[in-house]
Amino acid sequence: MAETASLPLVSLPNKMATVKVLAESPGLSSIPSTYTFPKNESDKKSSVSDTEYDDNLIPVIDFSLLTSSSPEVRSIIINDLREACQKWGFFKKSRRENLKESIFNLPPSPVDSERFQKSIAKEPERMARELLKGISESLGLEASYIDKTLNLNSGLQLLIANLYPPCPQPDLAMGLPPHSDHGLLTLLTQNGIGGLQLQHNSKWVNVDAPPNSFLVNTGDHIEILSNGKYKSVVHRAIVNNKSTRISLAIANGPSLDTVVCPAQELIDN
Ligand code: OGA
Ligand code: NI
Repeated sequence: MAETASLPLVSLPNKMATVKVLAESPGLSSIPSTYTFPKNESDKKSSVSDTEYDDNLIPVIDFSLLTSSSPEVRSIIINDLREACQKWGFFKKSRRENLKESIFNLPPSPVDSERFQKSIAKEPERMARELLKGISESLGLEASYIDKTLNLNSGLQLLIANLYPPCPQPDLAMGLPPHSDHGLLTLLTQNGIGGLQLQHNSKWVNVDAPPNSFLVNTGDHIEILSNGKYKSVVHRAIVNNKSTRISLAIANGPSLDTVVCPAQELIDN
């Protein structure tokens, strides 16, 4: 691997060319060392081993059950959510989403905030708040606990748009290093190209999903609020040498000046 890294590089306009400029340089066959982040080395440090699981084990949640008026159905979905949050911190939405305006149809220019709020962010916000009611109940709290305590009417949504161009040396680069997300719940949609991996039982799990479906993961505020009963799931994004991957993550949480602390009911002696 060290050999390939020392091959002559294509000439770049400046030392720290953006990934976009770099990816568009003709004949790019290797990446500059400033962009190397070998997967295996970081895994060694955190004693996480390479991918072993397939993603067919990842829980699938049927969102339509969340709004059911039947107590039996409600208790099934609450149990599903409890298990998904406890074991994985991650789940998929079962049905294809019919987003009014898909991010993937937008022009590749910055999305203005009004358009974002009115169209793209509305449905994920509604889904996140509905899920948080179920998650509150799954923790033994009142359904409205998280929504009310953290005043989600004036909550914060962060939109993170990620572009991962094909990389000639995918083993030497990392799209997004391992991290956990800010906020309560992140909803992520992607253009059908895989790359997202989550950490589960000290292994990396590949997550796949069709475009216009949602992947959901727990964030740091869920870990704090639940007093550690649910963890903020660590995840990363790897790159490939064939297709451009686009993902859109919407992190849903309370406003920036909200203090998040463990629910009183979940603190023991
Ligand atoms: C993020 C994130 C993963 C991806 O933006 O926080 O984890 O698949 N993205 O792009
Ligand atoms: Ni993330």
